[in-house]
Amino acid sequence: MKAVILVGGQGKRLRPLTLGTPKPMVPLANKPFVSYVLERLRNHGISEVVFSMGYLPDGIKAYFGDGGDLGLKVTYVTEERPLGTAGAVKNVEEHVGDGDFLVLNGDILTDLDLGSLIAYHNEKQAVATIALTPVEDPTAYGLVRTGGAGEVLGFLEKPSWDQIDTNLINAGTYVLRSEVFDLIPPGVEHSFERGVFPRLVGKGLYGYRSDDYWMDIGTPEKYLQAHYDILEKNVETSVSDCLDQDFVCMQGQVHLETGAKLVPPVIIGEGCTIRAGARVGRMAIVGPGCTIAAGSVVEESVLQEGCILEENAVVRRSIIARGASVGAGTLVAGGAIIGENARVEGDNILTNHIRVYPGTVVREGSIKF
Ligand code: GDD
Ligand code: MG
Repeated sequence: MKAVILVGGQGKRLRPLTLGTPKPMVPLANKPFVSYVLERLRNHGISEVVFSMGYLPDGIKAYFGDGGDLGLKVTYVTEERPLGTAGAVKNVEEHVGDGDFLVLNGDILTDLDLGSLIAYHNEKQAVATIALTPVEDPTAYGLVRTGGAGEVLGFLEKPSWDQIDTNLINAGTYVLRSEVFDLIPPGVEHSFERGVFPRLVGKGLYGYRSDDYWMDIGTPEKYLQAHYDILEKNVETSVSDCLDQDFVCMQGQVHLETGAKLVPPVIIGEGCTIRAGARVGRMAIVGPGCTIAAGSVVEESVLQEGCILEENAVVRRSIIARGASVGAGTLVAGGAIIGENARVEGDNILTNHIRVYPGTVVREGSIKF
């Protein structure tokens, strides 16, 4: 069976992390996010993958190449303009061929058992089967109502609160029969969620409930939560093995000065320098080549590659993107995001979900927010 991965979205809710980097390439525990999707496909015996791309496609292609390193055969198709989720799949029809195939949203971290999903699809002789997962707030997702035999009774994308009568939502993974291609008009924008699925209700559309780990990483809060879940091994990933019994993972040589404190769970990338008197953790992921100076604290946070924290900088529940630096005595907290290569000088306070755009310089003592 082949799989189509949808990665054409702009990832607007994750800005500024996605201004220069497409969402699938944003690092999650120091690896491009979509590599977890690929690993999961491979672990379930899927060997051929088609990337349906739109926004910033070059980095994806350059990183994964022909897929050989992952034991996969990868093909790339780039849209000239966004075709929507179903239009994007129609656009890759020639690469999928006959037979049932998988479609996956590219921004989901999950343990979903693809084998069971496919077996269920076959057992029901379904035209299309949607994986379902329970969530607390369905308003950000596609609500799916099902009957006793698993048949879909209704599909409602981004429902309002008064429309909610189930906590089951579209988990962004589908098994489709190739005849579904005939339901999608070619060359125009078309959506599974607002077009194809509502029209397939009562015509062979089934929902498969899964209680496996599931997270859409499309917002900063969820992006952080996905890291915490990897650190706590709430989800099985290729990083799980590195997190030893102490829940400390060093991804290569790390220069850890005597007197530097690591509080688990924590992942430290290759080539980092952590000075005496710094504290990293709990719940910290530090990208390769970062320098963390004396007196600095990193807690419940993500530092991407090559970040610098000067003396007594404190980063809590925040995200520091690649190449950014935080000056001496500055506090970054409360869901802040410091964009790529931004430089926040000393003696600032950045909290309250503030987002600093890539390359910006925040002068010493200028923000107390
Ligand atoms: N190629 C291509 N072209 N891909 C696209 C396009 C497009 O025009 N639009 C979106 N995508 C990709 C995105 O890159 C992402 O991987 C996936 O399709 C879903 O888009 P999101 O923008 O992340 O949608 P969402 O999170 O609001 O909602 C979707 O996912 C939920 C589960 O996380 C819907 O499928 C919901 O029904 C679902 O519950
Ligand atoms: Mg999403």
